[in-house]
Amino acid sequence: MKITTSLSKNIKSKFKRNILNLHEPSIDKVDFKMVQKSLREKEISTYGKYNVLFENKISKYIKGSNLVSTINGTSALHLMLKILGIDEKDEVLVQSLTYISTINSIIYNNAYPHFVEINKHNLGVDLEKLENYLQKNTYQKNNLCFNKKTKKRIRFFLNVYINGLSVNLTKLKIILNKFNIKLIEDAAEALGCFYNKKHLGLFGEGGIFSFNGNKIISTGGGGALYLKSKKLHNLSIKYATNCKTKKGFETEYFDTGFNYRLPSINASLGISQLSKIEIFIKNKKKIFDTYKEIFSDYDEFEILEPLNNLRSNYWLTNIRINKTDKINKNTLLRNFWRSKIFIRQIWKPIHMMNKFKHFPKMNLEETEKIYNTTFSLPSSEFLINS
Ligand SMILES: Cc1ncc(COP(=O)(O)O)c(C=O)c1O
Repeated sequence: MKITTSLSKNIKSKFKRNILNLHEPSIDKVDFKMVQKSLREKEISTYGKYNVLFENKISKYIKGSNLVSTINGTSALHLMLKILGIDEKDEVLVQSLTYISTINSIIYNNAYPHFVEINKHNLGVDLEKLENYLQKNTYQKNNLCFNKKTKKRIRFFLNVYINGLSVNLTKLKIILNKFNIKLIEDAAEALGCFYNKKHLGLFGEGGIFSFNGNKIISTGGGGALYLKSKKLHNLSIKYATNCKTKKGFETEYFDTGFNYRLPSINASLGISQLSKIEIFIKNKKKIFDTYKEIFSDYDEFEILEPLNNLRSNYWLTNIRINKTDKINKNTLLRNFWRSKIFIRQIWKPIHMMNKFKHFPKMNLEETEKIYNTTFSLPSSEFLINS
């Protein structure tokens, strides 16, 4: 029997479902009750009480203050870079293998993404290559890092956590410090991930989260922005609410802001969802362990494991084809999809697309290889108990 056929049979036998979608939200009566409550109370808009309550609960869960909830992760990213003062004089170091919003948020602020190479183990930056690259291609002036070629500032490294994985953050921070580059984090997929017991997204000047329908908890659409500086955090609340100021009975706007605050009705769903996050993570870990057991019989594949000091949220389990001579990517996709196991090839790296290929970059050979060999497996938390 073909490897992919036998694998899909094994997966089906373990999860006992006709259709295995990549990721579906889990909604139960606790969620219905909470959303109905917000409807009954008419606490549904941007200025309702549940967004404040949700922000407090998320803050408590991640053990970090200075959090504002937003309409999605994309707006949180846009706002973070805006508040940190990124503009057309800046390049932001970032991996090319990510969701498009990570890159767009840099471009929204008229700055330039500068693509860095990643590693196949955790889909984050290749630390050794990064250090060598910065050594050769940047210079320092007034304690700031500049690109030798473009003469643009490189003040920030936007680190992305893919599918509940992370690079070694201790080493990353040492390298960034050496070059006077500050860390910021796209932790859209990382709610529930603690590195050395500290929540991802809290390691730098700012971090963002997403509560989109496919994330570990969902508010329908939603996100949050953390900023280390209290002053910038206060400013982010103002910018997320159109820079509105009240003068007696009059309303004025002190700058061009954004209508980015999360509505209360979405936040109410977030409150009930958050109360179940540890159960979701426990179930996802079981799914990860089940896949690990299945794939241990196939040395053509490798499961991507979180680092030892990372408490992952196991949002999506990932595999890599390590014998490309034996496994054809398209056959794998076709056979799994035919069996209604909707695995997903990892994102196409952004630098490979016409519109984005002119941006500065390291050699991204490994990124392209990873794109062709890495897949996410169906990981809805309810798969394991059904
Ligand atoms: C890595 C990453 N960054 C940013 C986002 C954007 O989040 P949202 O869909 O909530 O705008 C997502 C998610 O979809 C993501 O996976």
